[in-house]
Amino acid sequence: MPEQLLERQDERPDGAGFRIAANPAPRSADEVAAVLGSPGFGEHFTDHMVLIDFGEPQGWHDPRVVPYGPLPLDPASAVLHYGQEIFEGLKVYRHRDGHLRLFRPEMNARRFAESAARLALPQLPAHLFVESIGQLARVDASWVAAEPGVSLYVRPFLIGTEAFLGVRAARRALFGVIASPAGPYFAAAGQGISIWLSRRYSRAGAGGTGAAKCGGNYAASLLAQSEAQAHGCAQVLFTDADTRTWVEEAGSMNLFFVLADGTLVTPPLDGTILAGVTRDSVIRLARERGHRVQERRFGIAEWQHGASTGELTEVFATGTAAVITPISRLVGEDVLIETPAGGHGSVTAALRDELTGIQNGTVADRRGWMFDLGGVC
Ligand code: COI
Repeated sequence: MPEQLLERQDERPDGAGFRIAANPAPRSADEVAAVLGSPGFGEHFTDHMVLIDFGEPQGWHDPRVVPYGPLPLDPASAVLHYGQEIFEGLKVYRHRDGHLRLFRPEMNARRFAESAARLALPQLPAHLFVESIGQLARVDASWVAAEPGVSLYVRPFLIGTEAFLGVRAARRALFGVIASPAGPYFAAAGQGISIWLSRRYSRAGAGGTGAAKCGGNYAASLLAQSEAQAHGCAQVLFTDADTRTWVEEAGSMNLFFVLADGTLVTPPLDGTILAGVTRDSVIRLARERGHRVQERRFGIAEWQHGASTGELTEVFATGTAAVITPISRLVGEDVLIETPAGGHGSVTAALRDELTGIQNGTVADRRGWMFDLGGVC
């Protein structure tokens, strides 16, 4: 699939390729090294960004790599009033052969197009999505660390920019890609994290935007996330909006439950949760390792019962940023469930080792998941 995307590069609507305007004041090698030595998550940004405009009658036009900096935005832009925005998250890895690679970028491209459709934004062709990331990664290649554990997190986004206050889909939009060196999303991920069961707030309902990666979903989760942090938890767990009993997703992550017989259970993609790329990859890796994987509803009651009887052994969360993070406890106003394996489940660890090995290039990529951006210093 990624190869097909590249073959279509000459079909780019602009026909002229990317314009590159180099940053006249890039960070020094010492400054970049200091960031890569202690990147945190989402705190530092590279020297450049990609921008592509959308408007009628040109469609997508003027793809460019420009110095990272503020965007000129009309104060009447649709994104500022009606939240017409979507985004993606993926990582660039530097392998031992010096090549930069992405993990399954065609899946992010497809989800980006689906999110755009749901938010009534124009759909960016997949080859342009992937090419944009490649352009930025190559220009800012010095920001991609060689050590496993630090990658370059890439954040494509799309906003409605038409200046018009009527409530309808914007006819002008701006696509952008920024990049940020990233270490682990959770500082204490190795020990497992505690998550907070929100009974008051829900994330998504039937027919809503739960399956889209749009800023509004995250904005709506922030109050519940503050509640989680106030209770000493790293993330919030959302249940279904109707009964508040079925597990949906944890703010920015999908969830997996490991049963004593080796079965993995994960909530189904029924329109209210995000179709995670890591979720899909874990399902495939687990099946290949001989696990039965069920995509079905999993209730808080089953979680509580399983943990107390030993039928449930491990719980983990998946996401591009979180990779595979063990969940050690679920905490709520009326519930406290300790995961039997705590943060040290063997199934979780094996899946994490295999996945991160493929991503970092230390485990053979037998499924053609890694997309080569080329060799750059
Ligand atoms: C990701 O895992 O890429 C996410 O989008 C999660 C979060 C940082 C918003």
